Amino acid sequence: MNIPVKIFRYNPEKDKSGHLVDYSVQLETGMSILAVLHQIHDEQDATLAYRFSCRGAICGTCAVTVNGIPRLACKTQVTDILQEREAIYIEPLTHFGVIKDLVVDKRPFWQAIEKTMPWLVREKELPDERLNYAETLNKMQLDQLNRSADCIKCAVCFAGCPKIDEEPEFIGPAISIQIYRQLFDPRDENTEKRLAYSTSEKGVFACDKHAVCVKVCPKDCRPLRAITFIQNRANK
Ligand code: SF4
Ligand code: SF4
Ligand code: FES
Repeated sequence: MNIPVKIFRYNPEKDKSGHLVDYSVQLETGMSILAVLHQIHDEQDATLAYRFSCRGAICGTCAVTVNGIPRLACKTQVTDILQEREAIYIEPLTHFGVIKDLVVDKRPFWQAIEKTMPWLVREKELPDERLNYAETLNKMQLDQLNRSADCIKCAVCFAGCPKIDEEPEFIGPAISIQIYRQLFDPRDENTEKRLAYSTSEKGVFACDKHAVCVKVCPKDCRPLRAITFIQNRANK
């Protein structure tokens, strides 16, 4: 059985703007959206540009928009998508500039993460004993710390966040997750700066709480809960 697929194509050397191109793909058992892209690339048009690496929902590089929703291409099953709509639309992630076809420029995203100083800041030596997180964090905070550590920085939540359409400077869910990780680490000594940054004008208090980020996150990191914990901490 063949299925119709429409893919956004844009070559800055030839095209004034992007456009959708029709393809027909042979459906295979257990086929992912990434496998669709591979089949088109290998059998129909080797100029199709897209990113991938791990094929196992670990590296975060294959994120694209499928039928209007940001998702990991390697984790998204074609049969699930065909239940939503008869054709499959594959487009680049929103909120990013397009470099070519499905490849976006993620530099602003990496720069925003770097600004959060996503590492432990500590000048004093750690006491010579095992740190017990359970003594400083409650069960939910600890669970959120583990979920935040699972973030693969795929930017799916960033692309799905409607607030970024209105406020492009809003720090967004993925950046908030990074801040949460350090802010709730009792070893970190940069708490005041992290709080000041995350609660500035475009920070966590600008969140509209419609939870799209929670629905689309492929790793169940629950960014909205991290945002709420940061807000509560700032209000203490
Ligand atoms: S929070 Fe989820 S959707 Fe957002 S970057 Fe991390 S893994 Fe991706
Ligand atoms: S809950 Fe906040 S961070 Fe999540 S999608 Fe909505 S505005 Fe964006
Ligand atoms: S290829 Fe690595 S997350 Fe999809």
